[in-house]
Amino acid sequence: MKTGYPALYSLMRSRQSVRKFREKKLTKGQIEKVINAAVTAPSSLNSQPWKFVVLQDAAQKKGLRGVYTAARVKLGLYAQDTSFVEKATPIVVVCEDSDFGKMTSCAMAIQNMFLAAQSMGLASLPSVTILMDRESEKLLGEMIGLSARQKIVLVTFFGYADEKPQRKPKKNAKSLVFGNSLKNLGKIL
Ligand SMILES: Cc1cc2nc3c(=O)[nH]c(=O)nc-3n(C[C@H](O)[C@H](O)[C@H](O)COP(=O)(O)O)c2cc1C
Repeated sequence: MKTGYPALYSLMRSRQSVRKFREKKLTKGQIEKVINAAVTAPSSLNSQPWKFVVLQDAAQKKGLRGVYTAARVKLGLYAQDTSFVEKATPIVVVCEDSDFGKMTSCAMAIQNMFLAAQSMGLASLPSVTILMDRESEKLLGEMIGLSARQKIVLVTFFGYADEKPQRKPKKNAKSLVFGNSLKNLGKIL
């Protein structure tokens, strides 16, 4: 069994975005583990500015699917089977305000959620689509009782994979790391 960095790296590499989920709910224990992982994240001034809205109600998930599907059409994104929205467990990550440090902190918490899910054999998907369209973002905000100060960071989905997507190619670290200046590519690795 791999331990230390090899184990963590292998877990990170194994995560991939899934857009087809089986109709199987997460248990309370699984949700708790995902959120427990999120709240270990660092945060600016230890603000811990995050809140997590778990959507379990079928009617609410149907509503979320409607908002997501409509947003994709409005944004002119490629056609997608959006049934996963209702099959997975959506968790909306909310920040206490839109301060850059706090939003970044929430992003760090979110990655912890994905890795925790992966370690439990669960599939996941981050989704920004709804937040790319003002009206759709507003509708989601109303759905979850968002206050004027709060900001939705991301919609995340968790559940059981019903597909094995092709792995997305990832850039090699060597092409992305610079020595001292962005003009000195490849001097470090
Ligand atoms: C911030 C963020 C927002 C994303 N939003 C969407 C989305 O709205 N819909 C979708 O199908 N995938 C979304 N994705 C998934 C990306 O398409 C995916 O991460 C990327 O293609 C790389 O694939 P991988 O996650 O399997 O490594 C999002 C990913 C991130 C990080």
